[in-house]
Amino acid sequence: MDGHALILTFVVLGSGFTFFAHSSYSPIHLPTRRYHYVDIPMNFTQARDYCREKFTDLATIRNLEDISMLNRPTMKKDLAWIGLSDDVKSWKTALVNDANSWRWSVTEQTSKTNYSNWYMGEPNFGGGKQVCVGINVYGGWTDYICSAAKKSVCFDTNANGKSYVFISTEKTWQEAQAYCREYHTDLALIENAEDNEAVRSLNAQSIAWIGLYRVPWTWSDKSSSNFTNWASGSPDNIDGDEHCVAEYLDSKWHDTPCQDENTLLCHEDGKLKSILRVKLQSDADLTDEAVSTKILQQMSTLLTKQGWTDFSLRWNIQPRKLKEVKAAGSDCGVK
Ligand SMILES: *[C@@H]1O[C@H](CO)[C@@H](O)[C@H](O)[C@H]1NC(C)=O
Ligand SMILES: *[C@@H]1O[C@H](CO)[C@@H](O)[C@H](O)[C@H]1NC(C)=O
Ligand SMILES: *[C@@H]1O[C@H](CO)[C@@H](O)[C@H](O)[C@H]1NC(C)=O
Repeated sequence: MDGHALILTFVVLGSGFTFFAHSSYSPIHLPTRRYHYVDIPMNFTQARDYCREKFTDLATIRNLEDISMLNRPTMKKDLAWIGLSDDVKSWKTALVNDANSWRWSVTEQTSKTNYSNWYMGEPNFGGGKQVCVGINVYGGWTDYICSAAKKSVCFDTNANGKSYVFISTEKTWQEAQAYCREYHTDLALIENAEDNEAVRSLNAQSIAWIGLYRVPWTWSDKSSSNFTNWASGSPDNIDGDEHCVAEYLDSKWHDTPCQDENTLLCHEDGKLKSILRVKLQSDADLTDEAVSTKILQQMSTLLTKQGWTDFSLRWNIQPRKLKEVKAAGSDCGVK
C-alpha cells in the first residue's frame, strides 16, 4: 500500500459515529498496482529504463492475484520482460556485496577477506540451479545444485581460531548446514589460503560441501517477493547466458539472455486513485474539529488493522455539502 493516493468518501448520516468500532465491515481491497504491457521490443536494461521512466519499474509479480490482473494484448514478441534478473557481476567475477553475491553460512554475509579459490570456469550457475559450493581434492571450489548429496566439512571456533571436521555421511547442502550448526559452529568458513589448505587436506577423494552459498535473482524494484512462476524446466541457464527473466503467453517465466529484444511488462504504483464510499450513522456536528479528528483517528485505526501502511487521512468537506451535513452527511477525503 506504499505511497498510494486514495480518496475515500464518507457519507455521514443519522446519529452516533460508532460505525467504525462496531460495524461489521468487509475488508477494503483496492487495486494497489497496475500492470502495463509495452509492445516495443528492446533489451533488458533498455526495458528497465523505459518502465522506470514511464511507470514505476519493470514488473514485480508477487502472487497469483497479480498474475490474474495481467491482461496481455497481442504483441510483436511472445516473451515480455519482467523485473527479475540475476546480477552476474555480483557473483561471477568481482567480490562484491550484493543481493546475489556469495555468502558464508556462519555470517550470512559476503567474505570479509575477499579470499576465493574457484576451480577453472567456476562459478557458472550451471543449469540455472547451482548456488551451493563444494571443494574438490585440489582445494578448488565449484557451485553445485544444493539438493545433491555430498560429504561436507564443518568447523569449530576455538582459542586458536578455526578447526575443521570432515563429515563423510553424504547430505544435501541444507542438511549439512543443519548438522554442522547443531554439532559444530557451522559449515566450513574459509577465509584465506591456509584455511583452504586445512580443509583440502581432510578431503582426499571427493567433493565436500563448504559454507558458501548465494541467493539468485533480484527484483528490479528491490522488493523481496519470493513468489515464483517458472515454466517447467526453467530456469536452465542454457549456454550460461540466461540471467534475465521474461514471461511467456501463459504468464510462466523463462530465463533469457539479457541482450535479447523482447516486449515488456511494467508496473505502476503510487498514482492510483480510488473512491470508497461508506455510510456512517451520526448526528455529530462534523464541522466541529474535535469530532472530525476523532472520526479520522477511528478510520485510521480501522485501516491499519486491515494492513494498510503509509497512508494519511484528512477531511475535505465540500462547501456545497456543508448545508447537508446535519441532515444528511459529509465527504471525507483520504489521501
Ligand atoms: C574486498 O573487496 C572490496 C571490494 O572490492 C574492497 O572494498 C575491500 O577493501 C576488500 N577487502 C579486503 C580485506 O581486501
Ligand atoms: C517466502 O518468504 C516468506 C517470508 O519471508 C516465507 O515465509 C516463505 O516460506 C517463503 N517462501 C518460499 C517459497 O521461499
Ligand atoms: C542494451 O542496449 C544498449 C544500447 O545498445 C546497450 O548499451 C546495453 O548494454 C544493452 N544491454 C544489454 C543487457 O544487452
